[in-house]
Formats: sequence, structure tokens, C-alpha cells
Amino acid sequence: MAALLPFCLFLGLSLFSFATLYDDVSQLPDTAYDFIVVGGGTAGNVVANRLTENPNFSVLVLEAGPSNIDVLPSIVPFLGSSLPGSPYDWNYSTIAQPALQDRVIRYPRGHILGGSSALNYMVYSRGSKDDWNGYAEMTGDIGWSWDNVQPYFRKNERWSLPTDHRDISGQYNPLVHSLDGINSVTLPGFPQSIDELFIKTTQELCHEFPFNLDINAGTPIGFGWGQSTIDGNGQRSSSATSYLGPQFIDRTNLHVLVHAQVSRLIQSESNPGIFDAVEFIQGDTTDLHVVTARNEIILSAGSIGTPHILLNSGIGDQQALTDIGVSPLVHLPEVGLNLSDQATIAMYWEVNSTDTFDNITRDPALAQEILDEWLSDRQGRFVTSVLGNVLGWFRLPHNNPLLHGREDPSPGPHSPHYEILPLNGLAPLPLPAEGHFMSLVCALLSPLSRGSVKLSSNDPFAAPLIDPGFLSNPLDLAMMREGIKVMKRIVSAPVWDQYLINLHGPAAILADASDAEIEEYVQEWATTIFHPLGTASMSPRGADYGVVDPDLLVKGIPRLRVVDGSVLPRPQSANPQAAVYVVAERGADLIKAAWV
Ligand SMILES: Cc1cc2nc3c(=O)[nH]c(=O)nc-3n(C[C@H](O)[C@H](O)[C@H](O)COP(=O)(O)OP(=O)(O)OC[C@H]3O[C@@H](n4cnc5c(N)ncnc54)[C@H](O)[C@@H]3O)c2cc1C
Ligand SMILES: *[C@@H]1O[C@H](CO)[C@@H](O)[C@H](O)[C@H]1NC(C)=O
Ligand SMILES: *[C@@H]1O[C@H](CO)[C@@H](O)[C@H](O)[C@H]1NC(C)=O
Ligand SMILES: *[C@@H]1O[C@H](CO)[C@@H](O)[C@H](O)[C@H]1NC(C)=O
Ligand SMILES: *[C@@H]1O[C@H](CO)[C@@H](O)[C@H](O)[C@H]1NC(C)=O
Ligand SMILES: *[C@@H]1O[C@H](CO)[C@@H](O)[C@H](O)[C@H]1NC(C)=O
Repeated sequence: MAALLPFCLFLGLSLFSFATLYDDVSQLPDTAYDFIVVGGGTAGNVVANRLTENPNFSVLVLEAGPSNIDVLPSIVPFLGSSLPGSPYDWNYSTIAQPALQDRVIRYPRGHILGGSSALNYMVYSRGSKDDWNGYAEMTGDIGWSWDNVQPYFRKNERWSLPTDHRDISGQYNPLVHSLDGINSVTLPGFPQSIDELFIKTTQELCHEFPFNLDINAGTPIGFGWGQSTIDGNGQRSSSATSYLGPQFIDRTNLHVLVHAQVSRLIQSESNPGIFDAVEFIQGDTTDLHVVTARNEIILSAGSIGTPHILLNSGIGDQQALTDIGVSPLVHLPEVGLNLSDQATIAMYWEVNSTDTFDNITRDPALAQEILDEWLSDRQGRFVTSVLGNVLGWFRLPHNNPLLHGREDPSPGPHSPHYEILPLNGLAPLPLPAEGHFMSLVCALLSPLSRGSVKLSSNDPFAAPLIDPGFLSNPLDLAMMREGIKVMKRIVSAPVWDQYLINLHGPAAILADASDAEIEEYVQEWATTIFHPLGTASMSPRGADYGVVDPDLLVKGIPRLRVVDGSVLPRPQSANPQAAVYVVAERGADLIKAAWV
């Protein structure tokens, strides 16, 4: 699918006419702002938008990547899968993962205004009640409970009708959605032939694989119609297109500087307890620039960028900083630790159909035809992502002995252990010249393994060492093995008999494999679903662990907050962008309340 990128990058389309971002530091009108937001990503743009609702607050956003405007693969949903490995990706890699046969895993993160929301697969999932009630319990702040975050889901979500204007009754629950938020969410706007096979599976195997009317109502178990951050016009909705949209970007109290990579925060000379300045490079030079914040600095650089900047600033484990040659200023040992991520494992089948996206992958002329349809009518296959339209969320069955006698790794009984993502074609394996395929990807949602982000050197512009610790906890490997069996049970429904011809490629061995052989397949092929969290975890006020308090202020450092995915102290049993939006909406409210 990466092959789709070149032909569309050269169209030079102008889809948006607003562009009042600064792309040269010399144009920036001020050097002091009330608030400086580091990272114009998913969370950062929400904070910038909400704070500048108050005309008395001036806000500067510093974003390392370029503007999102006219970046076609970030606009056309189907082309999004070509963004990893492009200029809009930080192109990180993990360190060798011992439990994955020492493989190095590519680790994309958005390097563009909008951050990872401008590059992700757009799945919109809010997690379970248990996830949020668990966060409330872990932080001692009832404000993070499922009931109490509902207003923030609503401030974020702008429910839109899908592009094909079909009847969507029975495909979602309107009562749990919001029409007047900012970030668009919709149902699939183009049908795929496999959709009905999954719906039929919910009838044939309704006990283990029930239908769920709306997976975003707090109880996600089942197969349900996927909801995505796509607007009613078949375009990706990122935090940049929504929270920095045309009606907001011209606010005179909001300045956004792109191509601005932050190296570190600087301590105040007059008040060493405070970090009140931000150092960065901008554009093509390595000159260092400094801007100061009168009220607060908000770190929204994401689960990799935020701990990286904190460590570069001397905020972290004192000994580790000294060892790498950074002067330790504040001893906060858990900065960069507690990294959680969700591993995935895929299976592939050759199918008895020609109605898959494999033709599009093979044939640039066909891809161009479908793109033309998108450009002229905002219709056709490209209005949705590469993922299938129906997604599954399942628990390990009660009768499976794996969890007998031990604590459930999931946050509670409403929480799936597995997410099942179908693809109506072959991905990410290379496509053979002939044949049509289906892929199923299983993500382990509540891993026990934890990893870290650490400095590789005292050069603040060197990439950090990223270690998600994939499957380092043996239970995670066993859970992944059982996940393969979940996928096999799904396709054991009679409806698949005439559709699936045979298991394809390396997955062929799974037709008849022992537990040990399945685990070997997992170790050889598992990869990531790109959900790192937890590297600046929330913990209760006064706790001697964690990095931020439940109000997102860094422990022991007034006027410095972290507002992004890194504060979530445990993986969500979901794809986390909706949670990041909630963290940002509530974070912005907490900041406003502190500076009335
Ligand atoms: C390929 C991929 C697919 C995904 N698919 C989904 C999905 O389908 N559904 C879902 O819910 N989630 C998905 N996710 C995860 C989701 O997108 C992220 O969890 C979420 O967007 C993270 O938000 P954030 O604000 O924490 O960080 P980000 O959105 O990554 O924002 C961080 C921002 O800070 C900037 N930055 C970092 N360091 C610096 C620095 N030193 N100086 C200046 N700026 C800096 C970055 O360029 C970026 O813009 C996916 C992620 C990836 C990578
Ligand atoms: C902005 O400041 C003015 C003058 O101090 C004050 O009257 C007004 O209430 C403030 N506005 C907001 C939204 O806080
Ligand atoms: C990521 O890698 C691609 C391909 O090598 C390159 O074009 C791009 O510039 C890189 N991204 C960044 C942010 O350097
Ligand atoms: C895909 O190509 C095959 C021929 O290789 C053709 O029969 C089929 O109709 C095509 N499918 C689509 C969806 O275009
Ligand atoms: C393919 O599907 C058709 C019906 O659509 C069926 O008649 C045929 O037997 C199937 N072939 C295989 C190999 O399952
Ligand atoms: C982070 O991990 C450490 C070690 O595993 C643990 O003691 C600590 O409680 C974790 N912190 C948070 C905030 O979860």
C-alpha cells in the first residue's frame, strides 16, 4: 500500500484556502506568551483551541512537523496507510525486542500539524466504562470516571452522516453521540463485501461473537460497525483540520509555528523551581531560539516526545541523567517508564472473491480512477480507511483456563481482551501477482508488559531509545496465542465456508499448529498497533511514583503540565485517540480553572 503514495503526492491540490500559520520563526510577532504548547498534535491543538476561547490568553503552539494543509494522503482516508515512512512520520524504531526474536519494530508517530491524528487509521473508540473508572481509581480523581468524562466526549465529537447517505439506523446508538463537538466522527461511507460476512457471524456464533449496536456506549464487547474520525465529506478529521480549522486559526491570540523542534525546557533564573522558557530550532538551521511563558508550559509532544523533552531538560531519574551527560535538575524517576503498547498478530487467507482492495494495490490506473472519484464526488472506496467496516472486541471465554486463578489483566468485565480488525485484502504482507485475500489483525488490548523511553545521548536532537517491551511478560505471549484461536473461531462460522479458500503465506502453518508453534508464529510476526501510552503517568497527588498529578501538573514543578497520551497510566481497551481527546478537553478545562 505504500506504493500508493507517489502518484498522489504530485497532484499539488489545494483543498483548503486557510493558511495563517507561521513557518518561519522570524515572522513570529512575540517572544513571550501566556501559554506555550509544545507539540501541535492530537492533544496540543485541543488545548490551544480551548485556551484561546478566552481572548485574554495568548497561546503559542510549537510543532516540529510541517503544516497538514494540502497533504493529500492525510486527507483521503484510504491513502492514510502510506503516511508511515514519509516526511510526516518521525520514523522511529524500537530497540531490538527480545520476546520478538530480537526484531526491531518500526514505530511511526505523526510529524505534522495534527500529530498522530493526522496519520492514524482513524478508528474512533472510547474504551469501556472500566477503563475510565479504573483511571479514576488509579489517580484518586473521580473526574476521570466514565460518567464524569462524558461531557468531554461530547465537546470533542461532531457526529456526521456517512458520505453514501444510506440508512444507518441499527448501526449505531444516536443517544450516545454528539452533534455539536469539533472533531468529526462517522460510520463507513462505502460498503465492503466482507461486512455482511461478519454480521452473519454474529448470528451464527452469537454466543462468543455477539452483535453490538454501538461499541462507544461503555460496553464494547461484540462486532459493531466501525466509527472513524472522518467527516461527512469523506475527509480525515484530525486535530489540525478540526481544532485549528478555518473558524479558529485566525484568532489573533493563537500563534502556530511549524518546523519548530523543541530541544528542552529552561529553568527560570529568578525562580529555579519554575521552568518558564522553551528552547527550539526552526526551519533548516540549527540556531537555537527561546520563547517564554508567563503562565504555563504545556507539553503535548506525545508518549515519545514528551518524556524525551523532559529528560533533555534534566527532569527524570537523577542517576540515569548523570550517566548520559545531562545535568539533573529535578529527580522524577518514572519519566519515560511505564510505557505500554498493544502488540498485534495477523492471519491471512486467500478468498473466493475478486471484490477486495488487492486490485487497487496492484493497479495504479485503478487507484487513480478511484482517487478521481473521491476528488470529484467524495464517493467511492477511498472515503474509508484500509480497514474493514466492522470491528470486533472480545474477551477470552470464561472457560479458557489461561486466566483461571490469576487476576484478569483487563480493567473489568465490560472490557475486551482483544480487538479484531479485518482487512478486505492482503496487508501488511507483500502482495503476490495473483489472488485475492482477507487479513485479520488481532490486538492484545491489556498487556502486562511495560517498556520505556530513554535518552540515547545528551544530544537533544538524537532519537530516544524506545523499548515497548513487547510480550516481555509471558502472560502476554499466551494471550496472543489464544488471540489466534479467537480469529480461527470467528472464521469457523459456516458463512465463511465458501469464502475462505486457504490460509496464506506464513499463516499456513496455523491450519494445524500446536500451542508452541502458534507462539513461535507470534514471536516471528507480531508487531505494534502504534498505541504507546504511560510514559508520564498520572498518579494520586502526593504519591511517590508517577510523573504527573491528576490535574496533569508535573509533580513538584508548578506551571508545567503534560497533556497528551503519555499521562494515561494503563493501556486502554481501545484505540486511544478518543481518550487523548478527552484528556486534552479536560486538561484545557483544568488549566482555564487555574488561571481565571
Ligand atoms: C500509524 C498509527 C495508526 C494509529 N491508528 C489509530 C486509530 O486508528 N485509532 C486511534 O484511536 N488511535 C490510533 N493511533 C494512536 C493515536 O493516533 C495516538 O495515540 C494519539 O494520536 C496520540 O496523541 P498525542 O497527542 O498523545 O500525540 P501526537 O498526536 O503524536 O502529538 C504529538 C505532537 O508533538 C510533536 N512533537 C513531538 N516532539 C516534538 C518536539 N521535540 N518539538 C516540537 N514538536 C514535537 C509531534 O510532531 C506531534 O505533532 C495510531 C497511531 C499511529 C502512529
Ligand atoms: C478579560 O479581561 C478583562 C479585563 O481584565 C475582564 O473584564 C474579562 O472578564 C476577561 N475575559 C475573560 C473571558 O476572562
Ligand atoms: C522518514 O523517512 C522518509 C523516507 O526515508 C523520509 O523521506 C522522511 O523525510 C523521514 N521523515 C523525517 C521526519 O525525517
Ligand atoms: C479485480 O480484478 C479482477 C481481474 O483480475 C476482476 O475480475 C475484478 O472485477 C476486479 N475487482 C474489482 C473490485 O475491481
Ligand atoms: C466460490 O463461491 C461460489 C459461490 O459464490 C461457490 O459456488 C463455489 O463453490 C466457491 N468456491 C470455493 C472454492 O469455495
Ligand atoms: C510504573 O512502574 C513501576 C515499576 O513497574 C511501578 O512501581 C509504578 O507504580 C508505575 N507507575 C505508575 C504511575 O503506574
